[in-house]
Amino acid sequence: IKRDARFSEITADHVAFFKDLLGRETALIDGVTGEVAADDMEPYNGDWMRKYRGHCKLVLKPGSTQEGGNTGLVGGSVPVFDEIVINTSRMNQIHSFDDVSGILVADAGVVLEVADQYLAEKGYIFPLDLGAKGSCHIGGNVATNAGGLRLLRYGSLHGTVLGIEAVLPDGTIVDDLGKLRKNNTGYDLKQLFIGGEGTIGMIAKVSIQCPQRSHAVNVAFLAGESYEKIQQVFREAKSQLGEILSAFELMDLKSQQLVQKVRSSNSPLEGEHPFYCLIETSGSNSEHDNEKLEKFLEDVMTKEIITDGVLAQDETQLRSLWSQREGIPECLGHWGGVYKYDLSIPLQDLYKLVEDVREKIDAAGLRGDSDEFPVVDVVGYGHMGDSNLHLNVAVRRYDKRVEQVLEPFVYEWIAKVSGSISAEHGLGLAKKNYIGYSRSETMVALMKQIKNLYDPNGIMNPYKYV
Ligand code: FAD
Ligand code: MLT
Ligand code: ZN
Repeated sequence: IKRDARFSEITADHVAFFKDLLGRETALIDGVTGEVAADDMEPYNGDWMRKYRGHCKLVLKPGSTQEGGNTGLVGGSVPVFDEIVINTSRMNQIHSFDDVSGILVADAGVVLEVADQYLAEKGYIFPLDLGAKGSCHIGGNVATNAGGLRLLRYGSLHGTVLGIEAVLPDGTIVDDLGKLRKNNTGYDLKQLFIGGEGTIGMIAKVSIQCPQRSHAVNVAFLAGESYEKIQQVFREAKSQLGEILSAFELMDLKSQQLVQKVRSSNSPLEGEHPFYCLIETSGSNSEHDNEKLEKFLEDVMTKEIITDGVLAQDETQLRSLWSQREGIPECLGHWGGVYKYDLSIPLQDLYKLVEDVREKIDAAGLRGDSDEFPVVDVVGYGHMGDSNLHLNVAVRRYDKRVEQVLEPFVYEWIAKVSGSISAEHGLGLAKKNYIGYSRSETMVALMKQIKNLYDPNGIMNPYKYV
């Protein structure tokens, strides 16, 4: 990537302008005219995967002392050169909540878990949950159109977000912070900001439809001898648990072995099984739901669809079972790096890709237990209920030879099955060049027109997306 010649270098005058605008010195981290400790700038120039590195010299941080955001997994939030980073941590107010309609209006910088805890007190739930909930912002969630662990139940943010307030690059405020479920008056422009990754404007506020929190949440952790069997479990779960099913997550043996290795912990089930799935139900009647889940478990066991299974008996066990799944991304990063692919694949083909990639990596002699091999392992897990696979290659170091095996192989494979090269993480910098594997030339050309219309100078999250 070449630095865009249209962009000027930041000068002392720019810094003075922003200081004046924000009204206080503490609202900036100024590496242009001031001395900044490396530790202060580091959170903005690096990413969660330690894969991307920017050269930002100025962070606009309207008054905050808190950190947050920057949990994205496609390099979307890291500057490429010396772009200015705007951190929304201080925009963290909850403005209103209507406990009849369930509509929440909040600032973009509210941490997801904080919003959810606020809603829990009112008997509601945020319609999105993901492993990074303690750090990510709801503005970041909407900007990436994050999917997460319960999309199966609560649907996509394209449906639950009712309104947004956004700021365009020229300062125009897009005042579409509506609270209407239905509003067919013209183009639904807010949808462009949902999943727009900050490329056409900054999201400042969000209004979102939140569902009732379920009184009864149950979790089962099951094992199967093949991916086919897990597909049968999914079919049975939909048929027997129907309206109370709230998550269906897949984990392969490798992913579980790595979690246990990093944590020095044991599997919730005895022995080793090629595949695991986590099923969550959320309903209103604990006894009734429990009975349903127990009967389901007995049924899939008797029919020999699963080889083993456990039902969480209390909250601690429920959390511990979830952590076998939610802990995977963090544990995979333990050795140094991860090549991450977040893919939509028709259900019947979903796991085949992991096998094909593992075979290719092995054929190239890149996977092994000792330090001389870059690859620790190739694992598959993800939101099987949404046909969304996370193919991850855990590595000891980022290595060109590994990259050459993976790309374009993975993208070509995905194009062949008419899948998506990014199911929920977005394009950012990592997937930008591969959009053509999932979108036609016509679609990409239309996207570029939209980008140019909203951001003619190309200043919003440059070098990313389209
Ligand atoms: P950032 O990383 O700060 O930014 C992400 C992108 O959004 C950037 O392009 C940035 O420019 C833009 N952006 C941020 N805020 C705004 C704003 N206010 N206005 C306009 N643009 C903005 N993702 C999933 O979809 N599902 C998961 O299950 C999931 N699990 C995860 C688990 C872990 C452990 C980790 C580390 C990440 C996970 N992610 C998941 C990815 C990530 O958490 C999400 O993409 C999240 O929505 C990013 O939020 P953030 O506030 O950290 O955004
Ligand atoms: C997840 O589902 O755990 C996240 O999307 C993060 C990841 O892909 O590793
Ligand atoms: Zn995910």
